Amino acid sequence: MSSAALFRLACGRFATGVAVLATRAADGIPHGLTINSFSSISLDPPLVMVAIAHDCSILEHFGENGFYAVNILREEQIDLSIRFAELPEGRFTGIAWTPGLVGAPLIEDALAVLECRTVQSVEVGDHRVLIGEVVDMRIGDGRPLVFFSGGYTGLM
Ligand SMILES: Cc1cc2nc3c(=O)[nH]c(=O)nc-3n(C[C@H](O)[C@H](O)[C@H](O)COP(=O)(O)O)c2cc1C
Repeated sequence: MSSAALFRLACGRFATGVAVLATRAADGIPHGLTINSFSSISLDPPLVMVAIAHDCSILEHFGENGFYAVNILREEQIDLSIRFAELPEGRFTGIAWTPGLVGAPLIEDALAVLECRTVQSVEVGDHRVLIGEVVDMRIGDGRPLVFFSGGYTGLM
């Protein structure tokens, strides 16, 4: 097995939640992609990070001094995860969302939403890492969508 394949398998053994990372273009149009590279970093100040592949077609909308929302998905929202990973365009068409405090698209009925202002953007390997200061949050009740070993699952 190549080391790249082993790296992918090893990292895939780390179970994660799934989120739709969303922002708005200069013209106000919402854009988003499915991610599992979300992590909290700091409590004071409240900082999180996400990573976006350099070849992502909507990378340009996640720039320095920008903002984004991490919409954490419920287990019933697997269709949203597939949509925001695979639909080539119009991902937000027909999706209920509202602009947050700084304008990021907050998806209605997400399990939780963290709205962030980008405080640092770092090009690392083949990804852009965005460190965001959390400016607003919403939480709901329910169970998370889980990603493990390359597939969707849920909590036991
Ligand atoms: C469960 C899951 C997690 C993903 N996590 C990430 C991620 O953290 N960063 C990323 O850039 N792409 C991630 N992707 C892939 C992107 O969702 C996908 O490549 C992106 O939507 C492609 O956008 P584009 O077609 O506009 O280039 C993930 C996909 C899935 C299904």
